[in-house]
Amino acid sequence: MPMLRRFVVLALLLALIFAGVNAATAQGRQFVNVYSSRHYGALEQMFAEFTQETGIEVRLSQGSAQALLTRLEQEGKQTPADVFFTIDAGTLVLAAEKGLLQSIDSEVLRANVPEELRDPENRWFGLSQRLRTIVYNPQKVDPSELSTYEALADPKWNGRLCLRPATHIYTISLVASMIAALGEQKTEEVVKGWVANKPQLIDSDTRILETIIAGGCDVGITNHYYVGRIYSQDPNASVKIFWANQADRGVHRNISGAGVTANAANRENAIKLLEWLSDAEKGQAGDVTGLPGGNFEFPVNAKAKLNEIIAGFGTPKIDPLPLAELGKNQKAAIDLLGRAGY
Ligand SMILES: [Fe+2]
Repeated sequence: MPMLRRFVVLALLLALIFAGVNAATAQGRQFVNVYSSRHYGALEQMFAEFTQETGIEVRLSQGSAQALLTRLEQEGKQTPADVFFTIDAGTLVLAAEKGLLQSIDSEVLRANVPEELRDPENRWFGLSQRLRTIVYNPQKVDPSELSTYEALADPKWNGRLCLRPATHIYTISLVASMIAALGEQKTEEVVKGWVANKPQLIDSDTRILETIIAGGCDVGITNHYYVGRIYSQDPNASVKIFWANQADRGVHRNISGAGVTANAANRENAIKLLEWLSDAEKGQAGDVTGLPGGNFEFPVNAKAKLNEIIAGFGTPKIDPLPLAELGKNQKAAIDLLGRAGY
């Protein structure tokens, strides 16, 4: 690199570093501002641990993904947010496309987060994995009767299904993954088959599981960690996980993840937080101090230890669809669900 350019780059770097230091120590304290739509309890405890280790205070603002995205857009350069944290790859893709996140060049994040679980341009990183799969009441259904999401369109499930409504992001992402695997036409046939089976639409995975346990329906589709929560209270609850599509593409996966905002004043602290969250021994821990452990999710870091309940779920074959692809099909999924009368 020519001398002058090297000098300019160095000067720019120093300016950036000083800007960061100024922002973070305006009141003599190091902090990082997080906008989060992740509503699972373990967050505060985990952030407290991060603060204890690094001296960086985490200031958390919670809200719905949509509300936080709108806020980030409206605040623009004035935003106090350094990190945007959410529970769906589609939302992260959308935030990146709107220019609300910046690319982060971190060797630690590249090593800890597998390629298919992060943005190809490194604007967001998956930090825990959630699998959306088939659940059933073992007193009503033999697992040999189950196989794929598609097979739930069979008329034998008429009046026996509990599903989440079309408006929920979990349903939209599942259908988006089916579009990627099967194409629109086949997916639409499947969804029409589900609808023909007159499912009970319940807008809470927990209530779907409670309904199955109470005998109100036989089979449902929920995220796996809600079963983990139920087992932590009652290991003998009358509901079991069936890993979907093991003979073909594998079970549908989504992530909870985060990115550094485009206008982060505390950029370095934000990177430190993401790196800490991806660390096998720290943020990825299998106990309640870890992001996946605190909510019975699977870690993204392959070196992280699993807690007992998560380990008990086995190691299913997972749909390898890169999470960035999932976001691209969401609009098509919403339209398809509408056409199918779901
Ligand atoms: Fe959830």
